[in-house]
Amino acid sequence: MFPQTPTISLFIVLASFVLCNGYYIQEPFYKTNVKHYLVHDGRLIKTKHEHFGLLTRANRAIHLSSSRPRGTVSVDDFGAKADGRDDSEAFGKAWNEACSRGAILVVPENKIYRLKPITFSGPCRPNTAFMLYGTIEAWTQMSAYQEDRQHWIVFDRVSNFRVGGGGTFNGKGKKWWQSSCKVNTNHQCNDGPRPKAVTFYQCNNLKVTNLRFKDAPQMHVTFEGCFNVIVSNLVIRAPGDSPNTDGIHVADTQNIVISNTDIGTGDDCISIISGSQNVRATDITCGPGHGISIGSLGADNSEAEVSNVVVNRATLIGTANGVRIKTWQGGSGYARNIKFLNIAMQNVTNPIIVDQYYCDQAKPCQEQDSAVQLSNVLYQNIRGTSASEVAIKFDCSRAVPCRQIYVQDVILEPQGHGGTIATCENVRYVNRGNFFPQCTP
Ligand SMILES: *[C@@H]1O[C@H](CO)[C@@H](O)[C@H](O)[C@H]1NC(C)=O
Repeated sequence: MFPQTPTISLFIVLASFVLCNGYYIQEPFYKTNVKHYLVHDGRLIKTKHEHFGLLTRANRAIHLSSSRPRGTVSVDDFGAKADGRDDSEAFGKAWNEACSRGAILVVPENKIYRLKPITFSGPCRPNTAFMLYGTIEAWTQMSAYQEDRQHWIVFDRVSNFRVGGGGTFNGKGKKWWQSSCKVNTNHQCNDGPRPKAVTFYQCNNLKVTNLRFKDAPQMHVTFEGCFNVIVSNLVIRAPGDSPNTDGIHVADTQNIVISNTDIGTGDDCISIISGSQNVRATDITCGPGHGISIGSLGADNSEAEVSNVVVNRATLIGTANGVRIKTWQGGSGYARNIKFLNIAMQNVTNPIIVDQYYCDQAKPCQEQDSAVQLSNVLYQNIRGTSASEVAIKFDCSRAVPCRQIYVQDVILEPQGHGGTIATCENVRYVNRGNFFPQCTP
């Protein structure tokens, strides 16, 4: 199959431009070492373990600063009762105290506190922390969210900050899901916004570890406009049919490592959208859910930029998608330098999918002459079973085909049905090692 001579591949590349009804094309594998091909981007610092240089530094900074806390502040000392009534006021006061002192706010264990929508605002003294040992439940009356229906808990502009403790954020989302038009099709449904459970907004040097998130009305944990983030040991749980309940949502965020996290939910386990760069997810378990997604990108003719994403060591069980890149017609910008490595799929409906005709609305979407450009995407050592016949789907844009798609050691067998196929439109890919099922001519 390869190496092909440069002349032949040049011919194939040229020929591909003249085909107008969609095409796929196989190119010889890059001559450079695949393991290091992302390193050409100046923002990545090459090390043996592929750590991003910036993250390693951030990690150290957080570790050092957290060793010198300035005392603790318990929400109970500010009047929190954990008796089913609203504890927001006590939490607000405790936060102000902890934030101004650089202390550890403590939410005691074995108690359930209830909070209305609340913003914990920074900037704070460095080393402020939020240790949740017990449970915080969302206020369930929708009228409490009148001012801002999009958020329940927001950590706003905090730096050198950590959240942990092993406790639970429970978004109590059931009532919200039932009113969603995705679920409730016959009665008066409401497609207005639903609150995201916990949002970190414009945070710097942030560590979120050892926590449980449950039943968010919408997304569970969102990082928006953050820089240098470490996320590990989270457990996120919502029913498989709960609408838009993404596990971890990364937006406009740079340098984030998510590791050892177990997510079962009704939408993407992890979603990464525009403005995100240097995103690393390792040792992720996902299911049920919609898989690990980049996108959706380019909705409403918007420009999207996502680069340097590594998903390494993930297990997906019974999910609708495995690893997915989804873009809308009519967008612009790019998603590039993406690696999906060492991924196990068990009975996943679309194990590998690129969908550049994504359309999550009632009205059909028209094909347009612009799209978010996908390039330099590596799929390496991806194995397991597909619940559907189409195990691999590259549905790339006709206007802006996918370039530099690398497939190495990918084997996706059928899960208790006839066979698997790959459908490949408007994609220029290279394969090395095993590739099953292959694109059919
Ligand atoms: C595989 O997934 C399909 C569709 O999601 C489901 O109907 C089927 O029961 C699953 N099979 C196993 C063995 O889990």
